[in-house]
Amino acid sequence: MHVRHLRDLLADEARTKALIKEHNGVFCDFCRQRITVQTLQLLFKLAEEAQLKEKIDAMFRGDKINSTEGRAVLHVATRARRDQEICVDGHNVVPEVWEVLDKINEFSTKVRNGEWLGVTGKPIKNVVAVGIGGSFLGPLFVHTALRTEATAHAAAGGRVLRFLANVDPIDVARALDGLQQEETLVVIISKTFTTAETMLNARTLRTWLTTELGQDAVAKHMVAVSTNIELVKAFGIDPNNTFGFWDWVGGRYSVCSAVGILPLALQYGFDIMEQFLLGANDIDEHFLSAPFESNLPVLLGLLSVWNVSFLGYPSRAILPYCQALSKLAPHIQQVSMESNGKGVDMNGKPLPFDSGELDFGEPGTNGQHSFYQLIHQGRVVPCDFIGIVRSQQSVYLKGEIVSNHDELMCNFFAQADALAYGKGPVQLRSENVPDHLIPHKTFSGNRPSLSIMLPELSAYQVGQLLALYEHRVAVQGFIWGINSFDQWGVELGKVLASKVRMAAAVR
Ligand code: F6P
Repeated sequence: MHVRHLRDLLADEARTKALIKEHNGVFCDFCRQRITVQTLQLLFKLAEEAQLKEKIDAMFRGDKINSTEGRAVLHVATRARRDQEICVDGHNVVPEVWEVLDKINEFSTKVRNGEWLGVTGKPIKNVVAVGIGGSFLGPLFVHTALRTEATAHAAAGGRVLRFLANVDPIDVARALDGLQQEETLVVIISKTFTTAETMLNARTLRTWLTTELGQDAVAKHMVAVSTNIELVKAFGIDPNNTFGFWDWVGGRYSVCSAVGILPLALQYGFDIMEQFLLGANDIDEHFLSAPFESNLPVLLGLLSVWNVSFLGYPSRAILPYCQALSKLAPHIQQVSMESNGKGVDMNGKPLPFDSGELDFGEPGTNGQHSFYQLIHQGRVVPCDFIGIVRSQQSVYLKGEIVSNHDELMCNFFAQADALAYGKGPVQLRSENVPDHLIPHKTFSGNRPSLSIMLPELSAYQVGQLLALYEHRVAVQGFIWGINSFDQWGVELGKVLASKVRMAAAVR
């Protein structure tokens, strides 16, 4: 088979034009993927055979597509607009979603304006969110993205939001460092309220509070987010101070439920979080209704399948040229790898191919000084470059050639071209590179990447980006014919850890 180098493919302007897509300010440039326009047509055929449209519709319809757990998959309902109707078992769940959101709005407003006081009468300035996996990574991603955004930063007004995930006492010490109990609210976030690490950390923090403030502190300083209200009650947290969600929201897809919205609304106020939900909802609607030719999550998902299953590249680098997106890769790593790292199909039959991919990433330009060597001259790793047109911080340094942000974006554009075009011996010789160094300095190029551009990074765009990646993962799973919404693979380690724990306890 004759393989055309990206250098040649990129010379075709009509192809380039056809491979740049836009939806509501989000640009996806696929022209540095190793595809022709015809490849896309073939991938649409594959999508048809895999019944992709039917599967997307089934998800939004509330069908129990998470068949091994008998659950619907409706994280899209957690960001539905008030007037939408999304049903589970024939019952519209949107009013329940908004009941919880309204409760978060009321509670976070009271805490933020000082109406809700700590047990000693002091206002609450700090929030420690305790949770792990999906009850941690998504909220951390959004918090990190918004911290320096002007409106969000002003709304935070010096408040502190910390996360405690690891059972490691070092993480406990770091999360609590410098915080006063009487000014601190602890939010325990656990879908099941049984996760060993979270429950141990919850008990540790309850002791931290009550040792200093007495038993009454729990009522004023501890709240919970969970689907398991009974266990929250048994722990000692008032059900009135509990924010529920539903079994049809998977942990790693739960950032738009109270899991993310409660701690983030406490930090930034509800209005900003509503913008975030609207951004995610915008992509949900687009995903459900846009034709595949212009449907960004569908295109992203199909091209990931192309890279993994047809070109045989098992990994993907997520490379935001934006420090505020430094926690995007760890979050998507969980969304993608816990969802699509499966060994069997929907019917339990072993897969005749590998599903899922190895996701990793770092913000540019830091990553360039770390692992890009391998990406340029070692293994082929399809890359997602993510750029923001207007930075959250428009700092211009007088006397410099370009601003810091422009410098960042120069690298964003250059890296994608370096991967695609490479640099060959002819050019190296013309630069008087000695013969013995030519092999070392040669870049083969032809390495696929895609670029995502957002006009700015405010709460709305953070929501769009989140939903874009979530649905991309779903598309991949639908094409591979797997259940992307269970996670049995995490169970065995948990069981063995509990056996070791019991053995250690009887010693
Ligand atoms: O062990 C993996 C996992 O089950 C994730 O899927 C989940 O997000 C995380 O643990 C935490 O679970 P929970 O929210 O129930 O504490």
